[in-house]
Amino acid sequence: MANPSLQLPAEARILEFQERIFGFYASSARRFPWRMTRDRYAVMVSEVMLQQTQAERVVPKYLDWLGRFPDPGALAEAPLRDVLMLWSGLGYNSRARRLQECARLVMEEYGGEVPGDPALLRRLPGIGRYTSHSIPAFADNLDVAAVDTNIRRILIHEFSLPEDASDRALQEVADRVLPQGRSRDWHNALMDYGALHLTSRQSGIRSRSRQSKFEGSRRWYRGCVLRELLEQGTVPQDDLMLRHAACPGGIGSVVDELVRERMVEYVPGGSENGTLLRIRE
Ligand code: ADE
Repeated sequence: MANPSLQLPAEARILEFQERIFGFYASSARRFPWRMTRDRYAVMVSEVMLQQTQAERVVPKYLDWLGRFPDPGALAEAPLRDVLMLWSGLGYNSRARRLQECARLVMEEYGGEVPGDPALLRRLPGIGRYTSHSIPAFADNLDVAAVDTNIRRILIHEFSLPEDASDRALQEVADRVLPQGRSRDWHNALMDYGALHLTSRQSGIRSRSRQSKFEGSRRWYRGCVLRELLEQGTVPQDDLMLRHAACPGGIGSVVDELVRERMVEYVPGGSENGTLLRIRE
């Protein structure tokens, strides 16, 4: 066997695994608001919020977000400032910007309805393989397997796969063990099993993307700049340079990055004190 990660589990082993996961779910399912909806837009919002943020922290943000932007049309038309305000606290704020870009594309190209086909979802900004599968799995119960960091850990542990198994090999195993017609419950059950039972600590299997120290990082400074712009409206670039002189790589390149990502813009004309920045209008 050239690649042991491609050895697929046998039928009996799969049935035993499915029964155990569903048994766990029957006794220990968590309740989240995004588990109560079949609305693809709402599921997309939750899945993007959950990409790098713990579920408990997502709950209030998800509810506020849907209160303010109940459908793709409301999100597409909102000022970026409002979008970033509602996102604040979730981190990785370019996810908010990309979610708004998704909403605009959904309005322009799909008549306001988030597509359910993974291949179409994959074309939207910020939607990778996992999310293009998880949205229709949760919203439509589509028989398609989604592999996130928790599900990867479970598959590696259960089927003794090497920790460096490729995404493709993991996807093959996930496809093979997916119980047909029960995709929604299956993915929820796996998420709960991974969060409550087979944790990273319990299994000894580390996530591939370990986060480095946040405070003082470029990502942290990025958050500072956006927060200051949201709170103050406009900020002189020179003030930012002085205040954030310790930023690794220079605060100027953080500002450049935010301008390139169309989150921040220069105020035309500036002021007598030099260049002014603001959230893009
Ligand atoms: N992480 C990603 N999707 C999730 C979900 N639907 N429930 C809990 N955690 C998740």
